[in-house]
Amino acid sequence: MKKLLFVYYSFEGNTQFVVETAAGIKSMDTQRLLPEYEPPKKGLGKFLKGGGSAIKKETPVLKKLVHDPSKYEKLIIGYPIWAGTYPPAVASFLKEYPLNDKKIYLIACSGSGNAKKSFKHMIEELGGNEIIGTLSLKEPKKNKEAAAEQIKEFIKDI
Ligand SMILES: Cc1cc2nc3c(=O)[nH]c(=O)nc-3n(C[C@H](O)[C@H](O)[C@H](O)COP(=O)(O)O)c2cc1C
Repeated sequence: MKKLLFVYYSFEGNTQFVVETAAGIKSMDTQRLLPEYEPPKKGLGKFLKGGGSAIKKETPVLKKLVHDPSKYEKLIIGYPIWAGTYPPAVASFLKEYPLNDKKIYLIACSGSGNAKKSFKHMIEELGGNEIIGTLSLKEPKKNKEAAAEQIKEFIKDI
């Protein structure tokens, strides 16, 4: 059994920053989720389509993963908050790669810093696994030093 996989989705680079920071501190494999479609990067459509797709629990097909999550003992799942919850790419991941008996850590990036509802949703979806810890980061790319400290503290015991 392999040790640790950081599975993540990032639309605008914040979660990507978290992954790079974490992987620079601790040995882990990383797996980016690449959905077949995303909202536009700019304009009203970004929030309307993106937020709508999260609320509707859309599950776009994902590019096949390089790392098989079932082979790992522990997983970190990282994602941005969309419309108060996790984004479609994560919904697809949960559907396409059912997890069982894993130790799981959740990291969410958001504009507000409030990820509570998404953690509740994720914990509901991840029954049969042990959710060990959650970390909510507010726009880490804009607050790199403070975020790096929080990430370091969070992953030190993983
Ligand atoms: C479609 C969309 C919906 C969003 N909805 C929320 C939200 O409901 N609450 C919030 O705090 N931030 C929201 N945000 C902001 C992102 O969660 C935040 O910018 C996050 O750091 C982005 O992570 P990323 O760069 O890895 O994609 C939203 C962003 C997008 C693009």
